[in-house]
Amino acid sequence: MQSEAHPLQALLEKRKQEGLLRVLRHNTGLVDFCSNDYLGFARNRVLAELAADFLKEEAEYMNGSTGSRLITGNTVLAEQLEVLIAAYHHTDAALLFNSGYDANLGFFSAVPQRGDTIFYDQLVHASIRDGMRLSWAKTFSFRHNDLSDLQRLAARASGNVYVAVESVYSMDGDLAPLDALAAICRKNGWHLVVDEAHATGVFGPQGEGLVNKALAPHCFARIYTYGKAMGVHGAAIAGSEVLKDYLVNFARSFIYTTALPAHSLAMIQAAYTMMAKAMEERKKLHDNIAYFNSGMKAKLDFIPRPSAIQSVITGGNEHTRQIAAHIQTQGFDVRAILSPTVPTGQERLRICLHAFNTHEEIDRFIEFLKTCM
Ligand SMILES: Cc1ncc(COP(=O)(O)O)c(C=O)c1O
Repeated sequence: MQSEAHPLQALLEKRKQEGLLRVLRHNTGLVDFCSNDYLGFARNRVLAELAADFLKEEAEYMNGSTGSRLITGNTVLAEQLEVLIAAYHHTDAALLFNSGYDANLGFFSAVPQRGDTIFYDQLVHASIRDGMRLSWAKTFSFRHNDLSDLQRLAARASGNVYVAVESVYSMDGDLAPLDALAAICRKNGWHLVVDEAHATGVFGPQGEGLVNKALAPHCFARIYTYGKAMGVHGAAIAGSEVLKDYLVNFARSFIYTTALPAHSLAMIQAAYTMMAKAMEERKKLHDNIAYFNSGMKAKLDFIPRPSAIQSVITGGNEHTRQIAAHIQTQGFDVRAILSPTVPTGQERLRICLHAFNTHEEIDRFIEFLKTCM
């Protein structure tokens, strides 16, 4: 036991006083309006069984991958899965990463070089920001989904230019204008990079995301994550063979980490098999999104979103936290998103809809929310 308080303690205390202390907790038995399990795959037994059968067929019994992909962790399973991922997303090659965080960190720290430029939407995810912090390239943000602001930045471009966006924004649930972004990138010779984390499984006839076959050749890279609608874990970057070879050689979050084990690969493969057939789940999810939006519009001042992510701006950290806590007492798992995760004044309740939510749950939730606002 150490007797003197470490300076870290003071920083935690400050966080606490600001009402921003993060703590780990369990929320069992509440109605899920909060997880990223949009299609219910994370709790789907068929997916687990498919993966187990696949491992049996392949006589794959390794518990761990034993090393990084470049040392002992590479497998036929991983390579076959990458072929499947590339084909599913209409491109030439794909490279698996251990998480979406690792994928963005690896891409943005390694691909844009000294002398290059990254233009990024002001609302991109922390993993993209962290990757850019490790890059030698110059970085400039443009106003959220504001194409004129992006074009205004053209004067600052030097070297190769990368434009970083999310097809579905993780906190606001709105969509990027991908066709227009691709046209701007084409016109200027810039490289479009699209994080499809919250579109994968949710959009596209087979859940392939918002970058469709026509748009795919106009994207330099796309990031797919498997811990959200696909219900499992891991991620991949899709793009050209050259991009893949480059990442294998230079992306440190790929090189210096133990590869995903066979059971994770089997889970991702099974999730792709299920996703291709999950028309019913996608239909239910989109029906719930429409139902929620029409219920909310009828009762509250609210901007509906086309994705599984909806947000109700409440303003103020304390106020937002209190409302979220109050809602939780009624059996709904809804979380407060506070500044600095979102800009001051934009503190909000983030509500995630799922294929498995019922209309009755949505009705009860909206009725109760109305009493809190
Ligand atoms: C837009 C976006 N990109 C990347 C990630 C990171 O993905 P993962 O959870 O697989 O690390 C997230 C998840 O929070 C996200 O919302």
